[in-house]
Amino acid sequence: MEKVRIAIVGMGIGRPNGKALSADPRGEIVALCDLAEDRMKDFASDLPNPVKYYTDYKVICQDPDIDAVFVGTPNQWHVPVGLEVIRNGKHVMTTKPLADSEEAAQQLVEEAEASGVVNMMSLGHRFGDDCQHLGQLGQDGYFGELYYAKARSFRRNGIPIWRGKDQLRLNFIQAGGGAFRDMGVHVLDTSWWLLGTPKPIYALGTAGAKFGPRGLGYNGPPPEKAIYQQFAVDDYGTGFIMFEDGVSIQIESFWAAHHPNELQIELFGTDAGAKTNPLTIYRMVDNKPQDLTPEVEKQLLPFERVASHFIECVLDGVTCKAPLKHGLIVQQMMEAILKSAESGQPVQLKT
Ligand SMILES: NC(=O)c1ccc[n+]([C@@H]2O[C@H](COP(=O)([O-])OP(=O)(O)OC[C@H]3O[C@@H](n4cnc5c(N)ncnc54)[C@H](O)[C@@H]3O)[C@@H](O)[C@H]2O)c1
Repeated sequence: MEKVRIAIVGMGIGRPNGKALSADPRGEIVALCDLAEDRMKDFASDLPNPVKYYTDYKVICQDPDIDAVFVGTPNQWHVPVGLEVIRNGKHVMTTKPLADSEEAAQQLVEEAEASGVVNMMSLGHRFGDDCQHLGQLGQDGYFGELYYAKARSFRRNGIPIWRGKDQLRLNFIQAGGGAFRDMGVHVLDTSWWLLGTPKPIYALGTAGAKFGPRGLGYNGPPPEKAIYQQFAVDDYGTGFIMFEDGVSIQIESFWAAHHPNELQIELFGTDAGAKTNPLTIYRMVDNKPQDLTPEVEKQLLPFERVASHFIECVLDGVTCKAPLKHGLIVQQMMEAILKSAESGQPVQLKT
């Protein structure tokens, strides 16, 4: 059987994605790359076959025995690594967000599209069973005209923790990181996709850091003061995005807040509405409200569905349902919200 020979760069989110890719009968992890060798060895012990180790992403990209690379580094490295992958003629899959800025995202998409390699976002939330079910209903016209979505992602104490010598994880709180790009991106991508990927026109946002720089709101004991004082990004962001034809999304993303944890998307259509958590559909039957709780068959884990789609794109020439271009448009919306928060003005989007 023909297999895709895949390398994984970044041993954090690279692990569940790598496991899913290797669980597919047509996927094989052949090489790992990380700055931390112990993390590679630890992951390798979970894999069914021996792998090569690399600490330099430029070198792994030149290995002729690799067909495709999964990029799972911190945000600031997605584009440098992705460009190297593409320039070496290999297929690429990138974790979210696509990049740490709009300009970087744009460059990666331009080169990826020009090169003709398969290029895909790994989007665990969008590819989940319930969201896929709603997406299919939307495509079948079940909701009528979908005109609004309300999306939120709240953590009570959820600022990612880093400690000791592992200064690399500081990336989460340095330029290009932050709550919106780390977490809000999931519900933004999914709600935009559920609405049918409309073209964004304007964004208005507010954002700030109310907990992190005070050493509060971490998902464990806070790091040392010298570290959390380097907090340079948003720990919350809210926004409103207006699309063509009067469609809109309201979005809220909080790494920390005096509110319970919540991950929710609500959809508003002319024939029916829905929410994702717990999955519920609202409609009228014979002039009476009806609430449905569909039983969605759990077939694959989200990353397994992502993995099998990536592999079918590479081996079978299937058109990619989550190209990097989607990551770029989501990035443009996020950056516009954050820019609006900084300037206090609405931002026009040119996608
Ligand atoms: N659900 C999801 O899809 C999801 C969940 C968590 C994180 N992520 C994304 O994954 C990325 C990494 O987050 P994480 O939680 O895995 O972080 P992490 O710190 O656990 O892992 C990142 C790894 O990348 C390695 N690394 C850093 N720079 C590198 C370089 N230049 N070359 C090679 N390796 C390098 C680090 O040593 C580290 O092992 C982020 O972009 C984040 O947004 C996605």
